[in-house]
Amino acid sequence: MINAEITGWGKCVPPAVLSNHDLATFIETNDDWITSRTGIKERRISHVDLAQLAYVAAQHALACAGLEAKDLDCIILATCSPGTSVPSTSSRVQQLLKADNAAVFDMNAACSGFVYGLQTAASLIQSGAMKRVLVIGGERLSQILNWAQRETAVLFGDGAGAVIIEASENDCGFQGAKLGCDSERREILFIDDFGTDRKRFAGVDGMYTFHFDGQEIFKRAVKGMGGATTTVLEQTNIDPQDIDFIIPHQANLRIIDALAKRINAPSEKIMINIEKYGNTSSATVPIALCEALEQGRIKPGDQLLLAAFGAGLTWGAATLKW
Ligand code: ACO
Repeated sequence: MINAEITGWGKCVPPAVLSNHDLATFIETNDDWITSRTGIKERRISHVDLAQLAYVAAQHALACAGLEAKDLDCIILATCSPGTSVPSTSSRVQQLLKADNAAVFDMNAACSGFVYGLQTAASLIQSGAMKRVLVIGGERLSQILNWAQRETAVLFGDGAGAVIIEASENDCGFQGAKLGCDSERREILFIDDFGTDRKRFAGVDGMYTFHFDGQEIFKRAVKGMGGATTTVLEQTNIDPQDIDFIIPHQANLRIIDALAKRINAPSEKIMINIEKYGNTSSATVPIALCEALEQGRIKPGDQLLLAAFGAGLTWGAATLKW
């Protein structure tokens, strides 16, 4: 059995901070409303393109793993805000890294993208097809937000996180995942005209419209992540009591609290950094993983659980032994 072990990690959060107080200067909102409803205090806004954010996170991950870019067999960029769709943004990341031996592709599972990417990478490695895969979750959502629509403008931010997954004989690494999609209500999180299926010549004002039913997303997020968690723990024969640390998607502090309650997890076992970055979609889980490692909250041998939920409505959970 070939194990798929995370050997390197890195993040890139843009230096420009947009606080709730800053937002209140140009839309009708306030810090109290945003903090009490979401837990978000500030978010980062990138002045460079998504490929640059992903490139910096990837460089940190490579350095952490002690690898060079030419060692990579594959680059998976999980994103729903690609800088370019044709060609893929991952091809630009390859170009910047000079990772000439890597296959590359973008993957869109929205906020669940990193967990989807992790299982894909682990499968490529465990099948014997590849030895070293770079998985990046990265977004530049500031470019597609409608900054006049307060319901959504306050929720999101930019950033990227990356991991290197390598074939390994060590008794650790990826154990399993349960991925899925609740497409029955896919229209409750929907951006009009963001793709080729659009009203090409209809009143273009440079702003997208988010169709967004926050309360329904909230309920389905808790159900999706909770169900995926139960299933993956059963599949991998892991007792919920044996989980040492949980890294959930950071969409809303209240969603994280509701998930913790549903899976009976104490708050000290849960990584939370939403207050600093808001919802960076596919980047929340790898950024939170990096910060948990920087803070010494994850130790060798720990049993980890990752869980995410996003547009689609995609959901997923994965278990890893560190
Ligand atoms: N500032 C001030 N007031 C606001 C704002 C704002 N930014 N946005 C909405 N309001 C107002 C509304 O207009 C409404 O006013 P009204 O009562 O006079 O009509 C009032 O606040 C309440 O609005 P609700 O939408 O009912 O607020 P709710 O308590 O549901 O909170 C929120 C909204 C935070 C979006 C919540 O529904 C939520 O967390 N949803 C799930 C998370 C989510 O959707 N994340 C987005 C990404 S999806 C993902 O990552 C999985």
